[in-house]
Amino acid sequence: MLAAMWSCITDFFTYETTKSVVVKSWTIGIINRVVQLLIITYFVGWVFLHEKAYQSRDTAIESSVMTKVKGFGIYDNRVMDVADYVTPTQGASVFCIITKIIPTENQIQGICPESENKFNCTEADSSKCKKGKAAANGIMTGNCVPYKNGKYTCEIRGWCEAEVDTIQTTPMPEVENFTIFIKNSIRFPTFNYTKGNFLPTITKEYIQRCNYDMVNNTYCPIFRVGDVVRYAQQNFSHIANKGGVIGIKIGWMCDLDKSDDKCNPEYSFTRLDAMSEKSPVSPGYNFRFAKYYKTDNGTDYRTLVKAYAIRFDVLVNGNAGKFDMIPTLINMVAAFTSVGVGTVLCDIILLNFLKGAEQYKAKKFEEVSDDFVHDSHSNGLCRSQLSLRNTDIIMKSSDSGAFSIEHYT
Ligand SMILES: *[C@@H]1O[C@H](CO)[C@@H](O)[C@H](O)[C@H]1NC(C)=O
Repeated sequence: MLAAMWSCITDFFTYETTKSVVVKSWTIGIINRVVQLLIITYFVGWVFLHEKAYQSRDTAIESSVMTKVKGFGIYDNRVMDVADYVTPTQGASVFCIITKIIPTENQIQGICPESENKFNCTEADSSKCKKGKAAANGIMTGNCVPYKNGKYTCEIRGWCEAEVDTIQTTPMPEVENFTIFIKNSIRFPTFNYTKGNFLPTITKEYIQRCNYDMVNNTYCPIFRVGDVVRYAQQNFSHIANKGGVIGIKIGWMCDLDKSDDKCNPEYSFTRLDAMSEKSPVSPGYNFRFAKYYKTDNGTDYRTLVKAYAIRFDVLVNGNAGKFDMIPTLINMVAAFTSVGVGTVLCDIILLNFLKGAEQYKAKKFEEVSDDFVHDSHSNGLCRSQLSLRNTDIIMKSSDSGAFSIEHYT
């Protein structure tokens, strides 16, 4: 019993190492080295140098955006300033510049004819005007009443007179020359790194006269609307007429292993509402708002405005990387392990497609017959499979290495 335990213990405290078969063949040798070279090149070139796998990354960028639009336009013989054409007025990262408006003035609560053609009716037949149902500008009363030019339409209750939004107006041309000033501060919380889109080299004089362009003034934070629209590959007069949404993207790709002045914003521009650009159903971008007034006797009246606008969305994204031991180690281990993957491919070629594959197979795989196992070991319970390795002797391998270290029998 004791002897059996002792043999178990000696069996356990052993070291196993793989025996290798060296194949001296030019073909497989070259394939092997080329595959290894490809894997090493991939890891060094792509994973480490290009993807910077030796860095830990912070993608949770924190950012604040402030915007300010400047410029005067003339619309309907009135000079329009920022308070007239920018909405909302807080200077957030999303704002609209109104390019044209269709105002409906002096609306009061009352009863009047609907303006939309869809609600045309005849004096004799008012069945279309269902009482209590919604029309385009109010709730129908059930009556059919005369409208303009001898036409009859359903009568509604709501803000009267009903808006007519089919009037053709031309957009304010000066919008093209308006400027957008963008102030952007960012922070990468993991590395506690803060930066803004005004570079330290920018002077007050420069900011007062510069305009962003993609070649000479890539860090000027002032953007001409016409340029932004052009960089987004849009036609200004078209987008001003129908409205649309344009994205101003600020990308921060920072390698914090390099010097601070290498971490700079990169601006790019795209049209975000690509669908409404093409769709004939709802082209462009417009919205309505109203300004409310009170008459002397206390009743409300309002001016309804249908506004066509170019909406600007300032989108900030980015990530920062910095050298870190843990990803470096993990990726180096992955790289070394992956070099071994080449042997799988080489084995497939060696054992199946190469001349003399049968001989290689015979050298690589050793067969152990069943009766050998049976009659040599009866107390094989705690014996690990490594004992069977001794059958190498039977194979009379031509390898020069000494493979039998100890006999367990
Ligand atoms: C925009 O500004 C340029 C240069 O100041 C001027 O020539 C042009 O007429 C302006 N465009 C509009 C639509 O006002």
